[in-house]
Amino acid sequence: MHKVIFDTDPGIDDAMALLFLHQHPEIDLIGITTVFGNASVETTTRNALFLKREWSIPAPVAKGDGKAFNPMRNPTDWPVMIHGHDGLGNIDVPDTIDLPLDPRPAQRFIIDTVRENPGEVTLIAVGRMSNLAFALKEDPEIAALVKQVIVMGGAFDVPGNITPAAEANIHGDPEAADVVMTAPWTVTVVGLDVTMQTVMTRTLLNEIAEAGGARAKLLSDISQLYIDFYGRHVKDGMVVHDSCACVYLVAPELFTTRSGAIRVVAGGIADGQTIQKPDGRAFPPGNWDDLPSQNACTGIDADAVLALIAETL
Ligand code: BDR
Ligand code: CA
Repeated sequence: MHKVIFDTDPGIDDAMALLFLHQHPEIDLIGITTVFGNASVETTTRNALFLKREWSIPAPVAKGDGKAFNPMRNPTDWPVMIHGHDGLGNIDVPDTIDLPLDPRPAQRFIIDTVRENPGEVTLIAVGRMSNLAFALKEDPEIAALVKQVIVMGGAFDVPGNITPAAEANIHGDPEAADVVMTAPWTVTVVGLDVTMQTVMTRTLLNEIAEAGGARAKLLSDISQLYIDFYGRHVKDGMVVHDSCACVYLVAPELFTTRSGAIRVVAGGIADGQTIQKPDGRAFPPGNWDDLPSQNACTGIDADAVLALIAETL
């Protein structure tokens, strides 16, 4: 059984990933931590509570503090064209959800839970990496106690989706992402190189909605704005970014990876760019010395990933 803390900014593809984690028989979802990104942290937290209630998810929800790791960055812009004004496809989520939050801030929840389960917790981060970076800053020893980190973010050999250089989750808090990539734990980055290949067609979404009962029907309702947006960019379907990171946990054989230290550019025209130094390549001493080797996904069996998502939902 994989114990998972899901760090997320729901967000429509986040919602699908959350349902996947909740329903997969080999996954024990032990916590949900929220971060800004697809909407403000107030909205993504309300959405996490809404989905927890609608889908009867037992895991506690702990709220992030809504700040980027670099205090000079002040997140205020949200992609309402993609995720809606409510972050869940404009389905009229109630303003407040009558469920309690975990009393701890997200970073403290992560630290406590990792320390209570040494060597057992996988962190899956599918939003800005702010909560993970703040947790590492507060308690660097957790790096040795986490089983693995799986991140949806970044673009290595393909263009970004916010700028030609940068993917949204990294671009929204590059300093945090650099802390996460360079910490002494095992990180696998599931970036646009593979997620952009993983397109769920409208037909498959409809089949899931018909076969998956009320939960899947809600997911389908939430996804309509998102599939309309993506349908204009990719052929008749939507990119299921965040679910790809969750599938990697249970089916890593469906991905090919490249190993090497990873760093994130902060500032300038390449703000938020992810760069990997291939293992075995030597460079003069500098910013790449003594960094852990991490895994960047370079290939995916997209049909098999989509089939596993559909079966689980
Ligand atoms: C990532 O950005 C967000 O919009 C999505 O939820 C996903 O995590 C894709 O770049
Ligand atoms: Ca996300």
